[in-house]
Amino acid sequence: MVYARITGTGSVLPGQRLSNQQLVDRLAARGVETSDEWIVERTGIRARHFAADDELASDLACTAARAALEAAGREAGEIDLIIVATSTPDMVFPSTACIVQRKLGVHGCPAFDVQAVCSGFVYALSVADAMIRTGGARRALVIGAEVFSRILDFDDRTTCVLFGDGAGAVVLEASDQPGILASELHADGRHADILCTPGSVAGGKVSGNPLLKMDGPAVFKMAVGVLESVARSVLDKAGRTADDVDWLIPHQANIRIMHSTAKKMRLPLDKLIVTLDEQGNTSAASVPLALDAAVRGGKVKRGDTVLLEGVGGGFTWGAVLLDF
Ligand code: UT7
Repeated sequence: MVYARITGTGSVLPGQRLSNQQLVDRLAARGVETSDEWIVERTGIRARHFAADDELASDLACTAARAALEAAGREAGEIDLIIVATSTPDMVFPSTACIVQRKLGVHGCPAFDVQAVCSGFVYALSVADAMIRTGGARRALVIGAEVFSRILDFDDRTTCVLFGDGAGAVVLEASDQPGILASELHADGRHADILCTPGSVAGGKVSGNPLLKMDGPAVFKMAVGVLESVARSVLDKAGRTADDVDWLIPHQANIRIMHSTAKKMRLPLDKLIVTLDEQGNTSAASVPLALDAAVRGGKVKRGDTVLLEGVGGGFTWGAVLLDF
């Protein structure tokens, strides 16, 4: 039996850290009123990192990938599949994964992007797992990389205080030991308009609004429902229960959603990995960023059972249960 197992993790946050107060002051200068108290109380976010003007999703992806390769004891040339989850690609095409491949100095292996917004990493990991289990790859780089600061509307206080930039990566390898135990993905396109960046490029111009729009309360309500149901479902599939979960790593969007999920699963809050406070919502990068922080911080150890969960635009959601 072939399983797919994570053999290394890596991540990066761009250099520019902005505390809530620093962001609040910047927004005040353009007449947008918000406060550190509101942001902390309603979201749990205290700071976020923004990429420099010349820093692209592929740059962050490469730094995270190199760290994951080093942790796995692998060279880029040993990788035979690259998947990048991103909603903020370097360009319309080619894929950010192809650009990452070039920047890593390798060629030949399949490389493609997955676009499932904040569920992107869970989608990408699930696809890589399937390809490894069916013999299509043996050693994959799976990356979540975002520069959401590029698509924020800094006149919209309901969204611009929430997001940050960053990247996280894992090396996923074929193994006779688990590994990924089960995964499950979902989408419901009927809710495409509650979280979207509706602009597109047409006739050489941007047509429509190229900035992020979100109906926060609608997304909140959907998220708390689906995160519990998909967690239960993936545990059932693997023949495990919530008692078997050592660490819950949900998409880092709002501490109230994360606490609610843990409570519904009857998981103590000390099993919940939280990086949201220092990073904000980094969309597809949030789960691998949190996983890497937990691994390097000595929380997630070899053999631990970890439940990863994504939720976001599409509407999309999913979960991956794994033995680390
Ligand atoms: O990454 C994909 C998944 N994304 C998510 O899971 C996000 C889900 N949604 C959320 O996290 C929350 O809905 C938000 C954090 C976005 C908003 O929190 P909320 O508790 O749902 O607030 P609300 O939208 O109901 O707004 C409450 C009040 C409103 O004022 P009124 O109408 O009560 O006077 C807003 O105008 O808070 C006001 N408000 C703000 N006030 C100060 C909204 N944004 C701000 C702000 N600063 N930045």
